[in-house]
Amino acid sequence: MIITSAPAKVILFGEHAVVYGQPAIAVPVSSLRAAVILDPAKRPLREIHLVAADLLRNSTVQPAEVTQALEYAVEVALRALNLPDIGAIIRVNSHIPVASGLGSGAAVAAALIKAVGMGADRPFDQEVLNQLVYELEKQHHGTPSGIDNTVVVYEKPVYFVRDVAIETVPITAPFSLLIADSGVSAPTKIAVGDVRKLYESDQARVQPILESIGQIARQARQAIEAGNTAALGVLMTQNHQLLQALRVSSPELDRLVEAALSAGAAGAKLSGAGRGGNMISLVDAENQECVREALLAAGAVRVIVTTVGAS
Ligand code: PMV
Repeated sequence: MIITSAPAKVILFGEHAVVYGQPAIAVPVSSLRAAVILDPAKRPLREIHLVAADLLRNSTVQPAEVTQALEYAVEVALRALNLPDIGAIIRVNSHIPVASGLGSGAAVAAALIKAVGMGADRPFDQEVLNQLVYELEKQHHGTPSGIDNTVVVYEKPVYFVRDVAIETVPITAPFSLLIADSGVSAPTKIAVGDVRKLYESDQARVQPILESIGQIARQARQAIEAGNTAALGVLMTQNHQLLQALRVSSPELDRLVEAALSAGAAGAKLSGAGRGGNMISLVDAENQECVREALLAAGAVRVIVTTVGAS
């Protein structure tokens, strides 16, 4: 029996602008994972079972679509191995909410492809795995920057610039985030497509917004490396305002950001493609509980705490 897994991720800075060549920073959420159990079968049988309560509750992702995506991930792995098939019963068990900016698609794909490689006794190295998961992301999202697959595969905080070598970010002082789900599912492809339309219709206004987001990501990297958590919070909130200007926030996300800030969070922003999905807020041990309650009172359907840089 082979067991593999991959973590969820959150984007701390730079979503959307990263598609246009600006830097972004994303971190793994190691406590929230997609797992795959692969049982080699004696005969050439391939069955894929999915255990992911969240997928079946979610209205924008149909189970048939999900099954197809899983099958396709296995196909991509087999093709890379030059194998016609694999005899196995594969169980996918994901705790990562879907269509909410937490990288669930990339995590499930990474865990599946890893399992198929190990099942065939030819484990993929991380670079190849990253490439294969990126192929799948392209199928699902159209023009992904590649940030999701990179964080999920390497499971390290990354400073990511499209088509440039991956850089990991050392965390000098660990910091805690509350990840709050707005309860609205929002496919990445639509938000990314709308930003593209906005960019094409009004480049003179949109380009400076993208550049300002890039500048924030650069400053944030310095703040993280210097262990300057207070500066990080301010930058997060500024990043959210720029995402509002790109029209990818929503009333639900704005309400959660406001609630977190009013309850004492050092900073807050939407995370991922926006329109729905999750937002993140920077908290400390003193205000964490108060911010969590404020988020739930403001409509969050789930709040997860994660510490970035915890060993
Ligand atoms: O998959 P999500 O919802 O975390 O969003 C991806 C981030 C975007 O910058 C909006 C798109 C991309 O491909 O980088």
